[in-house]
Amino acid sequence: MAAAHDGIERPGAAQWVPEGADTAALAAAAAQCRGCELWEPASRVVFSAGPPSATIVMVGEQPGDQEDRRGMPFVGPAGTLLVQAVRDAGIDPTEVYRTNAVKHFRFEQRGARRIHKTPEAVHITACHPWLHAELGDLSPKIVVALGATAGRALFGRVVRIGAERGRVLEGAIPDSPALSLLTAHPSAVLRMQRDPGYDEAYAALVADLRTAAAAAQ
Ligand code: URA
Ligand code: SF4
Repeated sequence: MAAAHDGIERPGAAQWVPEGADTAALAAAAAQCRGCELWEPASRVVFSAGPPSATIVMVGEQPGDQEDRRGMPFVGPAGTLLVQAVRDAGIDPTEVYRTNAVKHFRFEQRGARRIHKTPEAVHITACHPWLHAELGDLSPKIVVALGATAGRALFGRVVRIGAERGRVLEGAIPDSPALSLLTAHPSAVLRMQRDPGYDEAYAALVADLRTAAAAAQ
């Protein structure tokens, strides 16, 4: 059991992951996961959405407030922006398998509000057996890492979005034959909404998604 710097015990998800299970069985099993402390304050696990036959898989960071309430990934504000960007890239969003590096919402309660807290490396590591099992069952042409948390989970190392985004990579995901591509997290684009750089940031996300779609042909 990994002893973390904060003294919290995190056995990791492995013991809850059924061997050889398909994504539906994995999603059902994940409701029982106690691999780290994030399950307890969250309302429910948010596993994934989309067809297991998808040629494009998109991996986000973690469910947000809306996702936690509804049990579906990418249904909040960042998800809405992503869906629009996916459409603008010429991809049918319902054809994409959508999942997250961390399956429970990490937040800080402030009064009635739940403020998103970025998952740490210990949470990415604890939750990784789920993502690994998903990729073992799926057979996408390309896996898109949305942001630094997804990049770290998929590639097993710290990534830098600015320096590494937008390139189709071969063999970057350990144990997966799929191509991969790193891009910005939709929340990062959303946060720029009132900035002069927003249009450019949105266009860059769409351009990266177009590159991924072309590689998936
Ligand atoms: N919604 C998700 O499910 N994941 C993200 O990374 C962002 C929003
Ligand atoms: Fe398990 Fe992942 Fe939830 Fe932690 S975040 S309890 S490892 S499913």
